[in-house]
Amino acid sequence: MEVAIRIILFCVVLCHGGTFAEKLCFPKNFLFGVSTSAFQIEGAWNYSDKGESIWDRYTHQHPERVFDHTNADVAADSFHHLREDIKLLKELGVQYYRFSIAWSRVLPTGFSNVVSTDGVKYYNTLIDELIAAGIKPLVTMYHYDLPQSLQDLGGWTNPAVADYFKDYARVLFNTFGDRVEGWITFNEPYTFCLSGYGGNDAPGMQSSGFETYLCGHNILRAHAMTYHLYHNEMDARGFITITLDMSWMEAATKDDEDAAERARQFIFGWFAHPILSKEGDYPPVMRQRIDELSRKQNFPRSRLPVFTPEEVKSLKGTVDIIGLNTYSAYLVSEGHSKVDKTPSFQNDMNVYLRQDPTWPRSNSSWLRDVPWGFRKILNWIKETYNNPPIVVTENGVSTVPGLKDVSRVSYIDGHLRALHAAIVEDKVDVRGYTYWSLIDNFEWMRGFSERFGLYEVDYASANKRRTPRLSAAYYSNVARTSCLPTPQAVTWLRNHLQ
Ligand SMILES: *[C@@H]1O[C@H](CO)[C@@H](O)[C@H](O)[C@H]1NC(C)=O
Ligand SMILES: *[C@@H]1O[C@H](CO)[C@@H](O)[C@H](O)[C@H]1NC(C)=O
Repeated sequence: MEVAIRIILFCVVLCHGGTFAEKLCFPKNFLFGVSTSAFQIEGAWNYSDKGESIWDRYTHQHPERVFDHTNADVAADSFHHLREDIKLLKELGVQYYRFSIAWSRVLPTGFSNVVSTDGVKYYNTLIDELIAAGIKPLVTMYHYDLPQSLQDLGGWTNPAVADYFKDYARVLFNTFGDRVEGWITFNEPYTFCLSGYGGNDAPGMQSSGFETYLCGHNILRAHAMTYHLYHNEMDARGFITITLDMSWMEAATKDDEDAAERARQFIFGWFAHPILSKEGDYPPVMRQRIDELSRKQNFPRSRLPVFTPEEVKSLKGTVDIIGLNTYSAYLVSEGHSKVDKTPSFQNDMNVYLRQDPTWPRSNSSWLRDVPWGFRKILNWIKETYNNPPIVVTENGVSTVPGLKDVSRVSYIDGHLRALHAAIVEDKVDVRGYTYWSLIDNFEWMRGFSERFGLYEVDYASANKRRTPRLSAAYYSNVARTSCLPTPQAVTWLRNHLQ
């Protein structure tokens, strides 16, 4: 069957299957969006005066570390296909688009002494065209791509980089703040502080027992400074938040409840506790564990930095809504109690993580489809942090190339049902859902081998042709109607299209 025909058929079933009363509908003001990030889609890495980022440098120096030895020099070339991408967003009928600004495209030196005319022009066009299309921009200020010039100063381990981030933020607020109403300071600090300073991601540092915590500390400082800059010094017209990430951490057995909660505190609480808890500061379990292990390892002070009382105070309450990226779930059990000679985040956290092999998975080693985990993490945030408003800034799944992405339809449908239950039955205050991603993109160390797009990108074609997958038709129906199709309609589709 032709894809176009299939998509029409898909809509006939979804749009008319079942009466309104049987359908699950989201609250009136609930919003649907999609997400991307600059490095993963833009390409044009050296266009005009754009500066080099740590991901440019890392993928150029270490192609062997990327699964398929590719880089994002061109990627989906969204820099040159901006209007086409906006057409896709209109086709989907989403209410907002979450994208990120490449720091080194706007500030080629990394510092605010030089502002790129071409960089500003690109994002101005993107923002203006989105608004003209009736789509709200939701801007991530930092999505992993630190200017290399700042990495040369030590990157996020250097406290001064927090000040340079604030300078960059000021430029963004002054330049785009008249039209952008939603800002996200940082995307997934847990992941980039751990994988960048104690794993395989750029900038490729290997010191999770030290640098990872310095990174987190300076990110939190930069976030607080930027929040106060926005609300106290700018003519703020919107909201500002940070996006934190965690897969649901489920206790493997009843005896592993402490271990599971410790994992949640190390992964999510690390950033959420200083911002969202009543008492502020790092989670007590992190403070206690890392202080104790540091002592046993014979260090004169804790490897986890200490906030001043003023910093603790200035961090509290610095989100207008909390951003959540979540994809999957893990089973957590208690780790061994050894104190390793070489300090590490893993030894400090001290848990084993695994997944149940019966949980469905498509093209990712870790991303298993576990919708009940989604409902649980939303409830955990509600209970732990006194019911804050939440926006799901990323959720999605990767597949192999191809347009018949039935497993993606299942994933989104299952997660939206879990989300609906969390909102309607559990009264979790979720305001929006953002699918990752609009189009296929450069999946960091997985290169182009994993595809997350509602639209497939034909990387071999000269114009990087975008083609809707079945999931685009599914998601568009949800975004336009704010209701889910009946389970019968989804089953019918699965059976007829598999
Ligand atoms: C930009 O990078 C490409 C490789 O992606 C290279 O072929 C080209 O020469 C570079 N252009 C400039 C102006 O440096
Ligand atoms: C995902 O698919 C690609 C082919 O596009 C393949 O090379 C890769 O091994 C797959 N990864 C997993 C984890 O299944």
